[in-house]
Amino acid sequence: MIIIDQEHALDVPQIETLLDVSFGKGRKSKSSYSIRENVDPIDQLNLVLRSRGKILGTVRFWPAIIRDALGGVNHDTLFLGPLAVDPGIQGSGQGKLLLRAALENVDAKRYSRIMLVGCLKYYGEFGFRSVKPKYISMPGNRDAGRLLVREWGSLPSLPTVGQLMAIEPASSFGHADLPHSRFCPEMAQIS
Ligand SMILES: CC(C)(COP(=O)(O)OP(=O)(O)OC[C@H]1O[C@@H](n2cnc3c(N)ncnc32)[C@H](O)[C@@H]1OP(=O)(O)O)[C@@H](O)C(=O)NCCC(=O)NCCS
Repeated sequence: MIIIDQEHALDVPQIETLLDVSFGKGRKSKSSYSIRENVDPIDQLNLVLRSRGKILGTVRFWPAIIRDALGGVNHDTLFLGPLAVDPGIQGSGQGKLLLRAALENVDAKRYSRIMLVGCLKYYGEFGFRSVKPKYISMPGNRDAGRLLVREWGSLPSLPTVGQLMAIEPASSFGHADLPHSRFCPEMAQIS
């Protein structure tokens, strides 16, 4: 039986192996990794698919900042990823179950803005939309053409021109202030 469970510290080696298999060994050179660099994921939001001690899926959330390139206010956001399911069970609905549980958890904890780099075809049914026509770039000045956002509540709108950045490791992340291959080949390449 596969269960959805909180990620624990002892799961990390298996998660790293699953991510290597899912995204390739070069995964850490992707710009989304620079948003996660030197920053810890938010423990209480990270979930796994677990079956008899084996990790079959992972989803993680990180604190990040959207900097207004025109000098306006910066905004906090969650940054979702990576999401991965063991190739042996892909396509059997487990990815969507894991993602749905993770988003319910995030909503219950009242985080109301999530961003990710991914495929709208997959994430659209979970309430994500493209950040366009806003222009938000990623580290390395990459145009994050596949940057998606999921928001609820009365949040200030995203800057017209901005950059998604890592949060300073020492910064606090105020929960109360905060508000989401095969089918899409570039999905595994960019996020
Ligand atoms: C993407 C991934 C997490 C999806 O998990 P999964 O368990 O295989 O997917 P599910 O069985 O829950 O969902 C199947 C549905 O999602 C769609 N889907 C699955 N992977 C997809 C992808 N990469 N892009 C777009 N749609 C995808 C399928 O077409 C199917 O659609 P349907 O419900 O209309 O039939 C998994 O395939 C994976 O780990 N891929 C490699 C890593 C990756 O690309 N991660 C995402 C990075 S953002």
